[in-house]
Amino acid sequence: MDPAFRRFEPSRPSQIMIPIILAAGEGKRFKSKLNIPKVLFPIIGKPMIYYVLKNLKDAEFTRSILVVGYGRGPVISQLDQLQKETGILNKIAVQKRQTGTADAVKNAMPFTSNEDAVMIICGDTPLITPATLKKMKIIFYTTNADIVVLTSVFTDPSGYGRILRDEKGNITKIIEQSDATKEQQSLNEINSGTYIFKKALLDEFLQELKNNNAQGEFYLTDIFEYALLKKYRIAGISADEIEVFGINTRLQLALAQKILLGKKLETLMLSGVTIYDPQNTYIEYDVKIKTDTTILPNTFLQGKTEIGCGCSIGPNTFISNSIISDNTTVKFSYVESSKIDKNVTVGPYSHLRAGTVLHHNVKIGNFVEVKKSEISPFVKAQHLSYLGDISVGDNTNIGAGTITCNYDGFRKNKTVIGKNVFIGSDTIIVAPVEIGDNSITAAGSTITKKVEPKSLAISRSPQVNKLNWVDTWRKSNEDKT
Ligand code: UD1
Ligand code: CA
Repeated sequence: MDPAFRRFEPSRPSQIMIPIILAAGEGKRFKSKLNIPKVLFPIIGKPMIYYVLKNLKDAEFTRSILVVGYGRGPVISQLDQLQKETGILNKIAVQKRQTGTADAVKNAMPFTSNEDAVMIICGDTPLITPATLKKMKIIFYTTNADIVVLTSVFTDPSGYGRILRDEKGNITKIIEQSDATKEQQSLNEINSGTYIFKKALLDEFLQELKNNNAQGEFYLTDIFEYALLKKYRIAGISADEIEVFGINTRLQLALAQKILLGKKLETLMLSGVTIYDPQNTYIEYDVKIKTDTTILPNTFLQGKTEIGCGCSIGPNTFISNSIISDNTTVKFSYVESSKIDKNVTVGPYSHLRAGTVLHHNVKIGNFVEVKKSEISPFVKAQHLSYLGDISVGDNTNIGAGTITCNYDGFRKNKTVIGKNVFIGSDTIIVAPVEIGDNSITAAGSTITKKVEPKSLAISRSPQVNKLNWVDTWRKSNEDKT
């Protein structure tokens, strides 16, 4: 912790600060018709608001007031989970009509208690780092400022509020894009929407809200003019554009995604994971990978996926919510909610669906689909099969083209195959059925009855060879033409 910060954030009641997160807006510029508020849009697998909460936690806050409005149902229903994951306890303030940022803050104020300062942050700025937030706190406590505002210089400032300063460089006003003159619009120092206010100042200002501006909204940014008039002290600190930009459009969403993905991949690489081509690798926030695993290009790892040591994953592989143990290879494959033990090979072109459990040393090969099945050690199913609702014992070999008929139009039925079984190619297994240990099914058989251990099950028409039949047939046809 920064020493200055430690000095200035003791538990003295006169120096308690609470963050207010503004997240009531619809995010009109997202042009969504799904009634999902912008702050729930995922960025590498986590809702946008997750990052804001996590950054606040890392800046040593433990509570916040979250202002919700548009689409608040889904936000509220995710709060417990968000609290568990970020460690921030949220009080909810509802802003029924989204009439502007000042009105949003006004709705939050009744949820403050003995704090004497408030940090305001927008729900759509997930990249503002804990270090910057801490720096703002330090400035606030060390300079005696009544306001600290986070600004930035943007190459393209359009859409943002612009910072106006006097000849001495003091901040005098924030003017919104739609209210700014041409000349003001050419300024490229912008307001990030992140501030610390002395609570007394905020309370005063919020009593006198006006909305006589181009958008007819109650602007929080009007507080700057008010503060100047009432001789409050304003301090500004700045951060890089790449940290401060707000996610107003899906273009900015993609940019934020790229930045957070880059950070994730960097952390993994520095921890000992080889990523062959980081430009073409997509790994979500919660994914864990152990050392000496190689991730090959065009691989997507999603959700709560965990991968062990020494694995090779990809190329062209999608894995979600799955656990993969050490020294396993998955290539050109699609894996969902599965558990794969060590020394397994999957692919190319395998599809493991939810509920698949592969024990160690299993081999699942090309065009094999497995669903809700438990496959014991050393089983091989290398080619062109569908294995659904099946359990297979150790060392069994499943021949090419084996199909379990698990669905009778009403129920999903189970197939139980024992140990050391040899399932001949093109066996059709009509479930529910059991195939005992050490048995063999003949290629091309349709198995509808229990197969006893150590026996051969064969169900196919006997082969008939008709000698010289072809010559006779050809000749008879040629005579006709
Ligand atoms: C705001 C600032 C602008 C700044 C920019 C930074 C104002 C008037 N303008 O503009 O100076 O450069 O942020 O990104 O404050 N919200 C509510 N209730 C409302 C309106 C908005 O909760 O009634 C929330 C939104 O969900 C969002 C945040 O406040 O998280 C900012 O709102 P937005 O509409 O994105 O403001 P900007 O136009 O970006
Ligand atoms: Ca914004």
